[in-house]
Amino acid sequence: MRTNVSSIETTVIGHAAEAAERRRSVRQYESTAILDSDLRELLRLAGRAPSAYNVQPWRFVVVQDAELKAQLSAAAYGQQQIVRAPATIVMYSDMESALERMPDSMHPDMPQEKRDAGVESFRAQFASQTVEERENWGNAQSNIALGYLLLLAESMGLATSPMLGFEPEKVKALLGLPAHVRIPALISIGYAAEEGFRPHRLPVETLVEFR
Ligand SMILES: Cc1cc2nc3c(=O)[nH]c(=O)nc-3n(C[C@H](O)[C@H](O)[C@H](O)COP(=O)(O)O)c2cc1C
Repeated sequence: MRTNVSSIETTVIGHAAEAAERRRSVRQYESTAILDSDLRELLRLAGRAPSAYNVQPWRFVVVQDAELKAQLSAAAYGQQQIVRAPATIVMYSDMESALERMPDSMHPDMPQEKRDAGVESFRAQFASQTVEERENWGNAQSNIALGYLLLLAESMGLATSPMLGFEPEKVKALLGLPAHVRIPALISIGYAAEEGFRPHRLPVETLVEFR
């Protein structure tokens, strides 16, 4: 049992292939807290995920407060990993915010004219869409960062439990998030106190064909 917080635990210990082999959902955690600086670094790296137009619509709320975690668990059909983990990350996707921030998202290596034109054409593409269409599109981008987050956490010695079993409207109300945002997942995170199920996947032959 670990007794204190240690950032040594979160040193990167492998590469993506190793993390993919090892990662599994974990729902029991030690009580050890995770350093805020480690969580911030994890989320910075998750944000290295690519997205169309470099739009980066993902946003994160890190919930560590015991009372708030209990309320979050209640909004997630009582899933206990939220209460057991030292932190649960509420990942949300906000295209309204992303559209506003497009000038910041454009690559600085591009000439200014091209950046301005890029922002214009990007905003024009979404102007004719409904809020729901826009948020669906953004949610697909945000799921790329979710995959990054799960693998990166594993490579930093942290266990996770991604969840879609929650009531989005309740989670939004609890955290004061705008109505239009989408929530790709809640992710409980901490130091593992169980192994989790042995990974079980369809054989690659079922998934892949070469032509
Ligand atoms: C987007 C997403 C949502 C999930 N939702 C839940 C959930 O609400 N509750 C839960 O216990 N597990 C949930 N899981 C965990 C999956 O059941 C698990 O990833 C899958 O069975 C594969 O097992 P593994 O993660 O241990 O490899 C979710 C996983 C993902 C990726």
